[in-house]
Amino acid sequence: MVMERAYTFPLVILLACCVTASMANNMNTSTDESSLLTFKSRMISNIDPSNILIKNWSVSTPVCVWIGVTCGLRHQRVTALDISSMNLSGNIPSQLGNLSFLVSLNLSRNYFNGSLPRELIRLRRLKIIDFRHNSFSGQIPSWFGFLPKLQVLYLRNNNFTGFIPPYLSNISTLQDLDLSVNSLQGKIPEDIGNLHNLKTLNLQYNRLTGLIPLTIFTISTLENLTLRRNNLSGNLPVDICRGLPRLKGLYLSLNELDGEIPSNLSECSQLQFLSLSFNRFRGSIPSEIGRIRTLQILYLGPNDLSELGNLENLVELSIGNNFLTGSIPASIFNISSLQYINVAENNLSGNLEELYLNGNNFHGRIPNSIANASKLTTIILFFNNFTGPIPNFIGDFRFLEIVYLNGYNFISKSPELSFITSLTSCRYLKKLVFGDNPLNGILPVSVGNLSISLQYLYGYNCDLWGSIPKEIGNLSSLILLSLHVNQLTGSIPTSVVDLQKLQ
Ligand SMILES: *[C@@H]1O[C@H](CO)[C@@H](O)[C@H](O)[C@H]1NC(C)=O
Ligand SMILES: *[C@@H]1O[C@H](CO)[C@@H](O)[C@H](O)[C@H]1NC(C)=O
Ligand SMILES: *[C@@H]1O[C@H](CO)[C@@H](O)[C@H](O)[C@H]1NC(C)=O
Ligand SMILES: *[C@@H]1O[C@H](CO)[C@@H](O)[C@H](O)[C@H]1NC(C)=O
Ligand SMILES: *[C@@H]1O[C@H](CO)[C@@H](O)[C@H](O)[C@H]1NC(C)=O
Ligand SMILES: *[C@@H]1O[C@H](CO)[C@@H](O)[C@H](O)[C@H]1NC(C)=O
Ligand SMILES: *[C@@H]1O[C@H](CO)[C@@H](O)[C@H](O)[C@H]1NC(C)=O
Ligand SMILES: *[C@@H]1O[C@H](CO)[C@@H](O)[C@H](O)[C@H]1NC(C)=O
Ligand SMILES: *[C@@H]1O[C@H](CO)[C@@H](O)[C@H](O)[C@H]1NC(C)=O
Ligand SMILES: *[C@@H]1O[C@H](CO)[C@@H](O)[C@H](O)[C@H]1NC(C)=O
Ligand SMILES: *[C@@H]1O[C@H](CO)[C@@H](O)[C@H](O)[C@H]1NC(C)=O
Ligand SMILES: *[C@@H]1O[C@H](CO)[C@@H](O)[C@H](O)[C@H]1NC(C)=O
Repeated sequence: MVMERAYTFPLVILLACCVTASMANNMNTSTDESSLLTFKSRMISNIDPSNILIKNWSVSTPVCVWIGVTCGLRHQRVTALDISSMNLSGNIPSQLGNLSFLVSLNLSRNYFNGSLPRELIRLRRLKIIDFRHNSFSGQIPSWFGFLPKLQVLYLRNNNFTGFIPPYLSNISTLQDLDLSVNSLQGKIPEDIGNLHNLKTLNLQYNRLTGLIPLTIFTISTLENLTLRRNNLSGNLPVDICRGLPRLKGLYLSLNELDGEIPSNLSECSQLQFLSLSFNRFRGSIPSEIGRIRTLQILYLGPNDLSELGNLENLVELSIGNNFLTGSIPASIFNISSLQYINVAENNLSGNLEELYLNGNNFHGRIPNSIANASKLTTIILFFNNFTGPIPNFIGDFRFLEIVYLNGYNFISKSPELSFITSLTSCRYLKKLVFGDNPLNGILPVSVGNLSISLQYLYGYNCDLWGSIPKEIGNLSSLILLSLHVNQLTGSIPTSVVDLQKLQ
């Protein structure tokens, strides 16, 4: 027995040596050259008929200096091919499977089409495949599953159809899988959970249906799970974070998911991006979400927003276009890192200023400490059902660039539109929209003190009366001024000729 084993070992080495030798015999630099020349003969330059690459790939120079080609130092064999963004179309010839030393293949951002030849299965050394932004069609070939070293497989934005082949789950080395923006259908295969090195899984913008397989939630290496805009249904597991300790981004919006948002999400302690909007989630937002200190972007679906106080790293919050009712929790404005807030088109009600003040026991204005720290650049609150005046505290957010307050039903207390005066503190303001509000007032002279950067000013359908102050001519960056459907009188101030950029 012992002897037998001792002898089988060299035999295996001998076989390996001969296989390598025989491969070396019929595959060499000239094989690489003829493979690429065949590929070139199939290429059509879409834009420029004298395409630089098609001219360059010529036998008059060695293959290793051709544009997009990288060779290994030792054997002078092609190890990387990157002909991305070359405006090329045509299809992939089977001869490409002869580039037997190829490690990285990048054809992204071209117009290549047709299906992928089975001979590519011979590229056993491949680690990186990037075919994004082409027009490849047919099924995603199952032979990808037999490329033993593949780490990156990017097929985003092609025309692939059919099912996700379960064989992909045989690629134990796979780290990044992007099949997004195709026309894939059916269920996500259970076997995908076998990808024990996967960091990124992106299947968004397909037509996938059924439940998200529970096995996905056991891939402990997973950092980014993006399944947006499919037709996935079912609940999220209550212990969603148990098997996903490294999760940074979870993007599930625009599906048919239902059930409750699991409070266990707070256990994903590295979570930065959470997007669950446009689903059918029920119940309230678990207050535990407020404990995810790393969270930067939160997009939520129809929910009751009562507890959102501790998100001190939040940069973007979008709870717009939902079915929210009730009031905005004032504590949102306490988040000093917040730069973008969108609560448009909900069914919120109440008086924003009062809500704000009531919620915090402040009197009159936002304390400077909060306003100065706030980096809020965008406020979008349109088409809600707030009543009462547009609050003056809005001007305390010094970094505001974009403000939408239209369709608010805000009724002015005094004929002076004092919120305009308060917004003169916002030196970066580019766009101010307050149309469709029954303001019933006059435009203050201070309108001319609004930011010199202001490009868009919309105050249509507001019951404005009196004349347009001549100071409007100070707004020298203005591109668009919209004050129609008001009760304005007098003549248009001659100072508008100073508005050189007005379109
Ligand atoms: C490459 O291999 C072919 C046979 O497949 C042979 O004819 C040719 O001489 C070889 N070229 C080099 C440079 O070794
Ligand atoms: C192709 O491009 C490489 C690198 O720019 C250059 O060295 C080589 O001479 C070119 N070959 C031809 C045929 O133009
Ligand atoms: C591809 O075409 C665009 C115009 O459609 C052009 O701007 C670009 O320079 C072209 N790229 C190459 C590498 O030819
Ligand atoms: C390259 O591949 C083609 C088709 O896959 C095959 O017919 C041909 O023999 C190969 N050429 C060499 C030199 O190995
Ligand atoms: C492929 O090329 C594109 C464009 O040059 C580049 O952005 C991309 O990172 C490359 N892909 C990989 C996987 O390196
Ligand atoms: C690939 O595109 C060419 C035109 O660029 C077209 O003639 C051909 O039918 C397409 N092939 C497939 C399989 O779509
Ligand atoms: C994808 O395929 C469909 C039908 O097969 C075709 O109508 C469409 O033009 C294709 N799109 C691209 C980008 O090739
Ligand atoms: C590859 O994957 C398929 C489907 O998941 C499975 O049936 C098969 O046993 C796997 N093959 C290997 C060699 O792992
Ligand atoms: C999504 O799936 C549901 C059933 O789960 C079905 O009624 C609906 O038509 C599907 N929508 C799309 C866009 O495929
Ligand atoms: C939430 O996650 C933790 C660990 O991530 C786990 O121990 C706990 O059981 C989970 N809670 C529920 C209700 O599943
Ligand atoms: C996750 O992947 C998506 C899609 O590629 C990307 O847009 C997003 O920025 C990624 N998120 C993280 C946290 O890397
Ligand atoms: C605002 O209230 C009016 C009347 O109560 C209602 O018709 C309208 O749908 C509400 N708007 C929104 C966006 O909820």
